[in-house]
Amino acid sequence: MSRVDIVEVISGYIPLKRAGRNFKANCPFHHEKTPSFMVSPDRQIYHCFGCGESGNAFKFLMRHERLEFPESVELLARKTGVILPEVHDSSNTGVSISSQLYKINELAALFYENNLYTPAASAARKYLIGRGIKEETAKLFRLGLSLDKWDGLINYLRAKNSALSLMEKAGLVLAKEGGGYYDRFRNRIIFPIFDIKAKVAGFGARVLDNSLPKYVNSPETPVYTKGKCLFGLNFAKDAIRQEDFAVVVEGYLDFIIPYQEGLCNIVASSGTALTEEQIRLLKRYTHNIVMVYDGDSAGQMATLRALDMLIEEGFSVRVAPLPEGFDPDSFVRKHGIVVFKDKVKNAENLFDYKLKVLKSQYNAKEIEGKAKISSEMLPTISKFSHAVLKSEYLKKLADELSINEDALLQEIGKLKDTKPAFPVQGHYAQTKKPINVSPTEKLLIKLMLEEVELIKHVRQHLEPQDFQDKLTAKIVSTMYELSGQGKDINKGVLINHFGDDDILQVVCESVFMPEITEEQREKVVGDCIQRLKSERIKSKKQHLHDQIRDAQRSGDDARLDMLMQEFHLLIKKG
Ligand code: UTP
Ligand code: MN
Repeated sequence: MSRVDIVEVISGYIPLKRAGRNFKANCPFHHEKTPSFMVSPDRQIYHCFGCGESGNAFKFLMRHERLEFPESVELLARKTGVILPEVHDSSNTGVSISSQLYKINELAALFYENNLYTPAASAARKYLIGRGIKEETAKLFRLGLSLDKWDGLINYLRAKNSALSLMEKAGLVLAKEGGGYYDRFRNRIIFPIFDIKAKVAGFGARVLDNSLPKYVNSPETPVYTKGKCLFGLNFAKDAIRQEDFAVVVEGYLDFIIPYQEGLCNIVASSGTALTEEQIRLLKRYTHNIVMVYDGDSAGQMATLRALDMLIEEGFSVRVAPLPEGFDPDSFVRKHGIVVFKDKVKNAENLFDYKLKVLKSQYNAKEIEGKAKISSEMLPTISKFSHAVLKSEYLKKLADELSINEDALLQEIGKLKDTKPAFPVQGHYAQTKKPINVSPTEKLLIKLMLEEVELIKHVRQHLEPQDFQDKLTAKIVSTMYELSGQGKDINKGVLINHFGDDDILQVVCESVFMPEITEEQREKVVGDCIQRLKSERIKSKKQHLHDQIRDAQRSGDDARLDMLMQEFHLLIKKG
């Protein structure tokens, strides 16, 4: 990966200005007016002193392009011409199972797509027209048709030399009891399900009439997990980022019709409640969600309860209920996209909406009703990690129910999971808490990183445990180990070594400690070592002191003797 230069990579996204040995810029991960985002070409890392975001070139791409790690490695490889080894399948075909699955899915998608434009598909085309889907929309989403045959796809794929076992793995065919296989999707409109990079991960398939089951979907495969996929995200991601909110609907058609009519920041959860993985995916693009419910499911408390999780994940959640009997698809077709957009715009925040629903279900004037409503509302309120929001909502609830706020406070205190997980909404880069590591430790790490010879020197004087912080201790022991093996520790080796975000942050913070000139170096290193030693002794003393006190209290004389000896030894050293 030596061809990857972080300055080159990052300057492809944001303008970098030279600042001494480093480069600086306004941080792309949080909003700021004065630059606190630093890039070090020597260390091949970046670090923002404003929000704490830091890492190497891969991490930057992951964050900026919202990629997963393997994707960012791939992207970097493409940018720099580095050839990556593929993860190989055991069946020595030389191609990874994922890419085989994607390939066969693509073949199947093409087959279904072509079917839709044959004479045999006139009923299907009529069906799509009847559902308000324009031809260009069908083409954009690569809609297709599986014909009313048991072996249409099998024969096609066989002719393309695909193995039956692969077709089965992809969930495209099913095994017959007496041997042989048959097509999973027959006589259905095909909705390809794309991953974030627009590769075909699986399929949803709808009947053309009212028969059941209405939809047949791909089973879970190595490239498709229902709960990990948001239908339409590959089409919607830019619009979601731009609008900084996502409209979340349930069905394929509920996605397609609004999108066709010009509401493009929309995704479908495919009929399930949003899963945590789906939410993580969305989080790459926005922290704001508007849920649009079918008229009939809107009032269901269970659905609303599921939304508490979104609050916990730092999302701002609003709800736009549709009139009874409508889903987003039928609503847009009946009333038009402008009215629909208006509904979305006027969506109520989850708190207000939930309270309204509850008030329509229980009598808020009676004691019983008040108790019921507050016990439904409190878990939602407790999910807000921001203390101000929490207390404001409590106040509001007390107001609305004409009850005493203290009583609510007591009740919310009884809830177990009042955990402040993330800061509330805002920009996607979570502002990190600064990690409290002593500047001396960070400075020493910086100096060791700049001069490999120093590692050996420091090693003669300090053990990893002399570094009081667990994170720095781990970093230092790794440096000792790598240098012991004669490995080069420069150039981000260390950063690549750690997957742990906190450690990464400490390494990055260390690198950006103030510069030390050549002449000062020796003295500074000596001072740092001295200081860490005496700090270690101090904390050991404190620890022993506590142990001695305990031993005294419990009257354990033997132990006391031993501890006192240790204590005296320490005093001599210090
Ligand atoms: P709906 O029953 O609301 O269907 O299911 P729909 O999307 O409105 O479809 P139309 O308008 O009747 O054509 C919502 C979603 O739940 C999943 C599908 O993803 C569907 O889009 N679903 C539903 C299934 O996977 N299987 C089913 O049998 C039904
Ligand atoms: Mn529908």
